Amino acid sequence: MEAPAFDLNIPEARADVPESAPQEHPHILARDFSVFYGSNAAVRQVTFNIPRGLVTAVIGPSGCGKSTFLRAINRMNDLIPGCHTRGELIFGDQNVYGPQIDVAALRQRVGMVFQKPNPFPKSIFDNVAYGPHILGIRDRRKLAEIVERSLMRAALWEEVKDRLSDNALGLSGGQQQRLCVARALAIDPDVLLMDEPTSALDPRSTTRIEDLIAELRGTYTIAIVTHNMQQAARVSDFTAFLYEGWLIEFGLTQQLFTRPKEKQTEDYITGRFG
Ligand SMILES: Nc1ncnc2c1ncn2[C@@H]1O[C@H](COP(=O)(O)OP(=O)(O)O)[C@@H](O)[C@H]1O
Ligand SMILES: [Mg+2]
Repeated sequence: MEAPAFDLNIPEARADVPESAPQEHPHILARDFSVFYGSNAAVRQVTFNIPRGLVTAVIGPSGCGKSTFLRAINRMNDLIPGCHTRGELIFGDQNVYGPQIDVAALRQRVGMVFQKPNPFPKSIFDNVAYGPHILGIRDRRKLAEIVERSLMRAALWEEVKDRLSDNALGLSGGQQQRLCVARALAIDPDVLLMDEPTSALDPRSTTRIEDLIAELRGTYTIAIVTHNMQQAARVSDFTAFLYEGWLIEFGLTQQLFTRPKEKQTEDYITGRFG
């Protein structure tokens, strides 16, 4: 095949990830899983495992179902009338769409960061303390600890520690996005879902978010939607390529980008469509 249209720059840290990781350490399992809006299928019978503690990228052209799939993991699609699922989505040992599931508890395990940074029009402190406060933590000292720890994990602490009571909307776009990561981490999730988290950011802020993903890798299971293939190659261990709702290919990022098994994957990563 042709070489990819960009330089692969796979970090050393990922060289030793075994291809079998999704089978051996699955965290989220999609089994013949579909998502419909009314009668239209946006995700079609996809089967793959998101491995625990690693970074999985979901790529594919606009409208192929990436966001729909990501939102299905913490049942954000519930809010959309007519949206329903078929097949299985297993999180840990629970069926996300089974009758036993506690959706509030599920969402507590799964943090989410969106394309456009969306801090609340509140102080930096209150943005991060929001989730823990909702969960019933009222002790100011405890909240302050959580805020500091979360901002440190999100690589924002040094920049904001002296102005925690300032309005979050005064931060730069890149800082706002790291604040959103801190807000997601504050409820101590296992999984972090990121839907095109850098597409509204400048290159410098994008690099900071990518570095942050590398730091969070190992502690959290991360699924990131990106239409930027270089980014997928840089940050992820595994990649799922979706096209028109179908899972065309899933595998080690390095393999998928250098030796794709499917012609459609090859066409996409060499820039022939999408
Ligand atoms: N709220 C919605 N109601 C109806 N159709 C939707 C909704 N959101 C997305 N879709 C449709 O589902 C398909 C997949 O969309 P989406 O998951 O947003 O794709 P992507 O994130 O890959 O761009 C598209 O055809 C889109 O029009
Ligand atoms: Mg999308």
